[in-house]
Amino acid sequence: MEKIVEVQGVKKTYGKKNEEQTHALKGISFEVEKGEFVGIMGASGSGKSTLLNILSTIDKPTAGKILISKQDVTRLKGNKLADFRGKEIGFIFQDFNLLENLTAFENIAVPLSLQGKSGKEIRQKVQVVAERLSITQILSKYPAEISGGQKQRVAAARALITQPTILLGDEPTGALDSESARDLLDMMEELNQKDQVSILLVTHDPFSASYCNRILFIKDGVIHQELHRENQAREDFYRQILQILGNLEQ
Ligand SMILES: Nc1ncnc2c1ncn2[C@@H]1O[C@H](COP(=O)(O)OP(=O)(O)OP(=O)(O)O)[C@@H](O)[C@H]1O
Ligand SMILES: [Mg+2]
Repeated sequence: MEKIVEVQGVKKTYGKKNEEQTHALKGISFEVEKGEFVGIMGASGSGKSTLLNILSTIDKPTAGKILISKQDVTRLKGNKLADFRGKEIGFIFQDFNLLENLTAFENIAVPLSLQGKSGKEIRQKVQVVAERLSITQILSKYPAEISGGQKQRVAAARALITQPTILLGDEPTGALDSESARDLLDMMEELNQKDQVSILLVTHDPFSASYCNRILFIKDGVIHQELHRENQAREDFYRQILQILGNLEQ
């Protein structure tokens, strides 16, 4: 098995030494293999977004190491970091993060434009990913002119256009109605199974989590429990997740 992500003893403390500090992550270690679909669950404030921001290289850990495709991302800086992030990592956030003054096409093209790809290559790649996500009809529209579900597909297309090694999602279905949420999850599942894209999904929603192969439950900045789907049907895994969430609250 090929390890895509290796998280080793990651800690994150917010606040300076002489101020009030928050120990958001207190020593987290885990690995993600190629083609795994891993969920991260835990109560509000347990450190999920902190972990994802560190994985996505938006933020740096206070201690510990993160290897993505064997590269220590905590040591990358400047252009090398931007390059690595652009090529290896795709993100989908809850609030889409689309640029309002760019069309859907232009939004999807941003990562390739940043890499200095030719107009021809960009048009070809946008077309392929747009067909995959059924958004070819809205490519010339601006974010204000499309629905929430369509915005999230555009955001997903932008995350996937570079064919990243790992796709990171922080509550990507959080702002969607249940039908659009299911569409996005089905699409992520297909990408995971057909193209072997590794996925890390932060969610509080047991239904979304039931799509994962494995779930890490974070509590008070550490991994409190780990759950494997094995060959369970999604419905059975869903019930198991609900049960664990019930126990965690006690
Ligand atoms: N920039 C920051 N500065 C200071 N403290 C922060 C910062 N970001 C997060 N925290 C604190 O770190 C802890 C973990 O926050 P985090 O956002 O990772 O939680 P979460 O699990 O994503 O929660 P939610 O489910 O509400 O999104 C919380 O106590 C939070 O208040
Ligand atoms: Mg969060």
